[in-house]
Amino acid sequence: MTDDPMTRSRDRIRDLFRQMTSRWYILAMVFLTSMLFMANFYYKSHILYRDNARLDYVTNGSRHRRPHRYHGWLVVKSIKAQACPLAYFVQRTVTVRNNSAAIMTNVESHQEVISSRTHLPDNLWLNPSNSTISWTNLNIPKLFNATFLNPCWYDPPEGAARKLHCLPYFFLAGFPKCATTDLYYKMALHPQIRLAAKKEPHWWTRKRLPDLNSTMESGSLMSLEKYEELFDRGANCMEKISKLHLPGQVRLITGDASASTLWDNRYWRLSPEDTKLNKSGLTLAEIIQHYLPKSKIIVIVRDPVSRLFSDYNYFWKDVDILPSVEDFHEKAKHAITAITECLVNNTLRACLYEDIIKTKVRIKVGMYSVYLRDWYRAFPRQQIHVLRTEDYAASPETELKKIFNFLDLDPLEKSVYEKIRKMSKMNDQRSRTSGIEMLPETETMLRDFYSRFNRDLATLLNNSNYLWLNNTAS
Ligand SMILES: *[C@@H]1O[C@H](CO)[C@@H](O)[C@H](O)[C@H]1NC(C)=O
Ligand SMILES: *[C@@H]1O[C@H](CO)[C@@H](O)[C@H](O)[C@H]1NC(C)=O
Ligand SMILES: *[C@@H]1O[C@H](CO)[C@@H](O)[C@H](O)[C@H]1NC(C)=O
Ligand SMILES: *[C@@H]1O[C@H](CO)[C@@H](O)[C@H](O)[C@H]1NC(C)=O
Ligand SMILES: *[C@@H]1O[C@H](CO)[C@@H](O)[C@H](O)[C@H]1NC(C)=O
Ligand SMILES: *[C@@H]1O[C@H](CO)[C@@H](O)[C@H](O)[C@H]1NC(C)=O
Ligand SMILES: *[C@@H]1O[C@H](CO)[C@@H](O)[C@H](O)[C@H]1NC(C)=O
Ligand SMILES: *[C@@H]1O[C@H](CO)[C@@H](O)[C@H](O)[C@H]1NC(C)=O
Ligand SMILES: *[C@@H]1O[C@H](CO)[C@@H](O)[C@H](O)[C@H]1NC(C)=O
Repeated sequence: MTDDPMTRSRDRIRDLFRQMTSRWYILAMVFLTSMLFMANFYYKSHILYRDNARLDYVTNGSRHRRPHRYHGWLVVKSIKAQACPLAYFVQRTVTVRNNSAAIMTNVESHQEVISSRTHLPDNLWLNPSNSTISWTNLNIPKLFNATFLNPCWYDPPEGAARKLHCLPYFFLAGFPKCATTDLYYKMALHPQIRLAAKKEPHWWTRKRLPDLNSTMESGSLMSLEKYEELFDRGANCMEKISKLHLPGQVRLITGDASASTLWDNRYWRLSPEDTKLNKSGLTLAEIIQHYLPKSKIIVIVRDPVSRLFSDYNYFWKDVDILPSVEDFHEKAKHAITAITECLVNNTLRACLYEDIIKTKVRIKVGMYSVYLRDWYRAFPRQQIHVLRTEDYAASPETELKKIFNFLDLDPLEKSVYEKIRKMSKMNDQRSRTSGIEMLPETETMLRDFYSRFNRDLATLLNNSNYLWLNNTAS
């Protein structure tokens, strides 16, 4: 009866099953699945960082192919790796620390004399004839829930359906191409810091208001609610910690690391004239101070000459020509001329804040002191922490310790610093342009241009390191 078709098909099924459970079959399946997984991962990081894909680079007639490095997976990993650290808060010994940030006084401005406003009116309309859009009446409470160190509130205030909303406690506010990405993801290794769903929302600078005559990024408005949602991961975790009923505040924080916050003041020209404010020009620093007066502002600056070259390389957009040191020279020269001409009939702030100079390299970004002065007008000195990329690169540990102290967080354990020492740099520009240097005449021209702004910065910060006298453009 062995030839019975029923038995035969049963045997065949049994054979097939045996085959399927054989070691080779399983290995093959595991291999295929992991290949699929990796392809998916690669694809995602590619999408996330596709802007990093670079063209060839021309120097003196020869071509250099700039390697692209997709570090998107690191970003995904950093965010996913952050579990809500409940155990940390339970085990933590409460340390009382003094914030001994030096307070400097009497730093004189050689620019326009503008005194600080003590407060802004609550209803300042963007357009006096249209009371739809306001500068200052966003739906953000004046008082936050004191249980949390981070600015958070319940909406609705009572009931089972109430939800905890949070806004940033700190701003990693600038500057681009100064290692903000690397700094941000290393800061995120601190158990008291929760990453937002997006590193750079650019909400305050670019997505908060309709740019009435938008020259760029039009149609990318984001509602306050959507912005708040970016901090939901932090809010959920803070709420969980609050339910542990530990003594003291819930000292978990979240932040906004848009590298445009410090300098992109594109709504300045839309701000109300003398009528309501007694002086024109409402800066973003004042707006953030109005809503989040306790914000901690972190500013990382780098030798502006090398910053500009890095910026040129990174944000390369021209489709017609390849980047080259000669092209960089032309664009830098053109930018200096444009600023010089603008200054004939405008103030320095107007030239930087109003969208009036069109330059092909972002030379204005490196004029750090002009922006910083406006932030110091809006915030007390102790709420702004400035560091140099060069010092951070030389000793990330020293600079991170200062930052955690500035943020009022616990000192980080030694083991985490060991991990940091082993980590590679993120979004590292040097790997992409290694061996390519700007022309000596470009460097001389740019050093000369930036020197007065560096002097101003060194005065403002009372620190001659900000003159970058010892740096070569590296
Ligand atoms: C450019 O190329 C020429 C000829 O190959 C060479 O003589 C010159 O030194 C190069 N200049 C630089 C700045 O590398
Ligand atoms: C903090 O500073 C105050 C005033 O300078 C001082 O009296 C106090 O002892 C300090 N506390 C600690 C823990 O260092
Ligand atoms: C500036 O720094 C010097 C030394 O670094 C210090 O002696 C001086 O008191 C500082 N000035 C101000 C106004 O803080
Ligand atoms: C006011 O501004 C909003 C948003 O731009 C617009 O939708 C509305 O039509 C404006 N109202 C008037 C009266 O101009
Ligand atoms: C503040 O937060 C705590 C902890 O979640 C909560 O119990 C309390 O009701 C909140 N207070 C207000 C006024 O929302
Ligand atoms: C928008 O552009 C027009 C024409 O260039 C100009 O008249 C107007 O003042 C601008 N509006 C704003 C708010 O900048
Ligand atoms: C503008 O000036 C008037 C009169 O001096 C004063 O009452 C008002 O508070 C000032 N407004 C602001 C926003 O400073
Ligand atoms: C500055 O303004 C004057 C008078 O309006 C004008 O003649 C001149 O061309 C302007 N200069 C520049 C560089 O825009
Ligand atoms: C520049 O370097 C020299 C020698 O390394 C040092 O003596 C000097 O203090 C440095 N100057 C600045 C402004 O850092």
